[in-house]
Amino acid sequence: MWPYPRILAHRGGGTLAPENTIAGLRAGLAHGFHAVEFDVMLSQDGIGVVMHDPDFGRTVPGRGSVPTTSAAELRAMDAGSWFGPAFAGEPVPLFSDFVAFCRAEKIWMNIEIKPAPGFDTETGAWVARRTRELFAADMGDAAKLPLLSSFSFEALAAARDAAPDLPRAYLLDKIPPDWEGQARSLGAVAIHTNQKHLTPGTAQAIKAAGFGLFCYTVNDPERARTLFSWGVDAFCTDRIDLIGPAFA
Ligand code: G3P
Ligand code: MG
Repeated sequence: MWPYPRILAHRGGGTLAPENTIAGLRAGLAHGFHAVEFDVMLSQDGIGVVMHDPDFGRTVPGRGSVPTTSAAELRAMDAGSWFGPAFAGEPVPLFSDFVAFCRAEKIWMNIEIKPAPGFDTETGAWVARRTRELFAADMGDAAKLPLLSSFSFEALAAARDAAPDLPRAYLLDKIPPDWEGQARSLGAVAIHTNQKHLTPGTAQAIKAAGFGLFCYTVNDPERARTLFSWGVDAFCTDRIDLIGPAFA
């Protein structure tokens, strides 16, 4: 049983706004989205920021990296100009500010723990601890709690140990043969996987084993219908203009 929304805006607002920014959340809201996936990484001083790449150069200008830069410096960087002049000066959000915006606007969250290389345990533990603090009033209400996910087994294990009562999903590009044992040892409630590699048989096995099943990143409505027919519970999309929140 999947207690969450079925269509999520990927990286904030998909490809309609700079990824992982508050402007992205606003774009999602403008298209009726109240469900989002985004990426969290730790700064040099151990504070969660909403960023996908550890290295600068794509979504923020210059050279450098998230794990060697303080949160205050990251927050002052321009994460919008790469996308277009209308977004110049859009900051790198602090995790706590991003979550506060989502809570104020009633946006449900799939928080992807995205550790910079070598920081898996610290990142998983920090995100779980901070999320637990921010959602203290909602513990016990499954539909309101965010879902933590990660490609990093170590990060999810650390999240499990830091906040066992927060739901976790194991992210897998391709589903390996031993997926179920790994997911069970993490106490995961769902498998998140690349829609490109999913087959109907694997989808059925995951559902039959009692896990939620989520796909990234689905931008074609025809493909979305096929995935739902296989038993997929939910997916994230870049095309929030093409696949609306009521698509399912
Ligand atoms: O969480 C699903 C998806 O976001 C994983 O890929 O690279 O966009 O973070 P990526
Ligand atoms: Mg992601």
